[in-house]
Formats: sequence, C-alpha cells, structure tokens
Amino acid sequence: MNPEEFRAAAHELVDWIADYRLRVDDLPVRSQVHPGEVRAQLQTPPPETPQSFSDLMSDLENVIVPGLTHVQSANNFAWFPANSSLSSVLGDFASTGLGALGITWQSAPALTEVEELVTEWLRELTGLSPEWKGAIHDGASTAALVALLIAREKASNLSLAGAGLQGEAAPLIVYSSPQAHSSIVKAALLVGFGQSNLRMIEVDETTFAMKPESMRAEIEKDIALGNKPAAIVVAIGTTGTTAIDPIKESIALGKEFGIWVHVDAAMAGSAMLLPECAPMFDGVNEADSISWNPHKWLGTSLDCALLYVRDVELMIRVLSTNPSYLKSGVDGEVTQFKDWGLPLGRRFRALKLWFHLRLDGAEAIRARLRRDLANAQWLAEQVAATQDWEIVAPVSLQTVCVRHIPKAMAGDWQAIDAHTQNWVEAVNASGKAFITPSVLQGHWMVRVSIGVLGTEREHVTNVWNLMQEAAQPLNSSGFKST
Ligand SMILES: Cc1ncc(COP(=O)(O)O)c(C=O)c1O
Repeated sequence: MNPEEFRAAAHELVDWIADYRLRVDDLPVRSQVHPGEVRAQLQTPPPETPQSFSDLMSDLENVIVPGLTHVQSANNFAWFPANSSLSSVLGDFASTGLGALGITWQSAPALTEVEELVTEWLRELTGLSPEWKGAIHDGASTAALVALLIAREKASNLSLAGAGLQGEAAPLIVYSSPQAHSSIVKAALLVGFGQSNLRMIEVDETTFAMKPESMRAEIEKDIALGNKPAAIVVAIGTTGTTAIDPIKESIALGKEFGIWVHVDAAMAGSAMLLPECAPMFDGVNEADSISWNPHKWLGTSLDCALLYVRDVELMIRVLSTNPSYLKSGVDGEVTQFKDWGLPLGRRFRALKLWFHLRLDGAEAIRARLRRDLANAQWLAEQVAATQDWEIVAPVSLQTVCVRHIPKAMAGDWQAIDAHTQNWVEAVNASGKAFITPSVLQGHWMVRVSIGVLGTEREHVTNVWNLMQEAAQPLNSSGFKST
C-alpha cells in the first residue's frame, strides 16, 4: 500500500469508525455470536495476492462488528469501563502512523520526552507528589509485575546479581487481599514468590477492605517463623466491589517492617483527579509504587497503564540492560524507558494520552467522572429504596453491587444464587444492557459498573428498569408477576 492508497482507505475507515461510534448504542451490547462463528466466516488460506479494501471493510462490518461485545456502548455496565475517547484514538492513529521505535532515547527522543511530560501532567492532575516518576505500561498486570520485581530485589538485596531467589535463606512473603485483582497473584507467582508465600489478609465483612490488625498479625507471624516480609499490595478500588484497603495503616506497617508497598488503583486512579475523592487516597504519597489505568475510566484507549515509583534508581538497577548496540553519547543525560519495564521496543503510547488531555482537557474529564459518581449514587438510592433489592457493598466509586432477594427465597442461598444468575442472564441476553455477575462471600451478586463515556442518567434508568423486569419471579403459571 502506498501513501496515496493509504490516504483514500484511511478516510473511508475514519468515516466508518465515526459512524460506528454514532450507532454503537443501538447494537446488542453483548456479542451474540457462538464460539467459532467468527473464525468460520473468515477462514481462508493465507492471502497470496492483494484483496480489495472494500471486501475487507465488508468483513469488518458483517463479521467483526457482530463478533464484538460493544464496550463503548452507553448501555455497557459490565466489568469496568474500558473507555476509548476519540481524541485518544487520534493519538493512537498518529502513533501507529509514525511507526516510531522506542528502544532508547535516541531511537525516538520525542517518544521518551512526551512520555515524561504526560506522566508528569497526570502526576500533577492527580495530586501525587513530585517525588514520583512514571512510565506507561500496557496494563496494570504488567505494572504489578514490575513493582513486585523491584520489591523482591529490595528485600533480597539485589539477589538477581547472584543466585537469585534460589539463593535466599528465608522465603520472601507477599501480603494482599483476597479481593485484589487476579493479576496480583499472577504477578507474585511469576516473580517467583510461590503460592505458599502469599498471604491473603482477612477483609472486613462490610467494607471488603483488608483489616490492618490481621495484616500485622500475619507479618509478625512470618517474622517469628524466620520468613522475610517483602511486599504489601494495597488495592484502591477492588474489581469486585471497589473496596478501598487501608492505605495509611498498610504503609505504616511497610515502614515499620521495611516492606515494599504497591498500590493497585487500576480503575479508581482516575478518581484522583477529583479533589473530593482525595480522602480515598490519603497517605498514598508514602507508598513505594502505584499503578492505575487511564485505559479504564479516564478514557485513553487501551492499552495505557501508568506505574509510578519513587526510587527510580533502584528500579533501574533491577531492570536495566545495556548491550553495546544500544549505547549512545547521551546515556546518563536522558531517560531510557527500556530500563523502567519489561520490553525493549516500546510503542509511542504517550501520544494517545497527549492527544486525549490536550483535545478534551482535564475540566471536561473531571465533569464526566463526577457525572458517573452521581449516577452511581442515584442508582444505589433507587436500589436501596426498592423492596427485595439490596446494596451489598459500599458504593465508594461508580460501581453498584446488588442482589435481588424475593421474600420467598430469603435464607435459601441455593435458590438466590440460581435466581441471580437467571436474571442477569436475562438482562444480558436481551442485548439492551450488559452487567457482570460476580461472587462475593461465596454467593452471586451483580455489579453495575457505570462510567462509559456516553452513559447518561437515562441509560442508568434503563438498566435499572431492565434489572427489575428480569428479576420478577415467575408465578405458578410461568408468567412474571406484576
Ligand atoms: C483493580 C484491578 N487491578 C488490575 C487489573 C488488571 O488490569 P489490566 O487489564 O490493565 O492488566 C484490573 C482489571 O480490571 C483491576 O480491576
């Protein structure tokens, strides 16, 4: 494809994307395809000769679009928002169009320096202290992996320079919440701590936040056994219920026992832009690392996660490599992001954040986040005021966790669990909205996660109406009672 052919095709594609965004709310939210259906429609031998752009566009329209769950739909309330603002889409286009190669500062000075700039902008916008330095990663999972790698090396006095974990006399221990995202356990296992060295701290039964006294007890028990506490992972905004772990108390324990504290605020980090949410993050500046995802609620297209650390020197000692072919005359003067994470070759991800922040501005982003918080409070009020409905976790952010317990089922958890799964499926199968069932304290509940860019009060009203309709128990004639 030459640049002129690209120009023509790209104009058509941009029009198509704009049209998709205009009609996305009218599409069934959850993809209605069956396993294998997409593949079966596209299965051909590898193309030996060029195919027409219009054939490809037709497959995009007729096979790919139905093969997607439309997370950009205003009727999507599943998981957490994965917003993709069109301003950031432009930045992503520009990044791919430029085809920059981020391996060293010299390979793309602008890639490095715009990343420094936007991570600094977001540090300022979120009120983090200037002691933090940030980099962009693909996801919070990678960010947690990097944070735990540094924690491991701190606790083991840079064991990677010798026998690594295999040379450690005492097992290194990680403390986290059973409510933390699965990526935390994954990161801890990949970093080599081992399942038997993970401690899941008891959580409060109503807030689902870790209990500091239980954390202290576990740490002291480990020390008495001769184990070495290495890392505490605190979640602000857990995936299940957006629970907020005790930051200050965890950091105090971290300091008392010399333990690295990583804060996972993948979804909730966006709330740091709102001064009224500052109490949720009180004390966070004293942690050792914090990650959050602009690719969630903030609205910068996937993939865009931030990891901030305070001890950059230690991070570089853990992660740097310096083969001769990458050396240059400016080493020592510039940031080399290859030493801040896992990959050598990095995309120009900073462009999408730069476009997003410049074209939308923080003021509009804050207003949208506030709209979502208000919508969540509104929904929580409706649920709490409606017979047989319950709010099952504090609504600290934009996610509302609910159960419907008809009187006839009270106390019969088997029936309640089956009922919950049935009514959620009825909502999701309708295509009119999409919500996520999840297990809390051993029983099913439903998360209504508000925060898609286009979601207004009317969409929240609609999903609430759908939920009530779907949860009406069938009467003896098989009809929904009214
Ligand atoms: C609290 C939390 N942490 C981590 C993650 C993993 O994020 P990523 O998909 O960016 O790896 C998620 C994903 O939803 C999350 O909710």
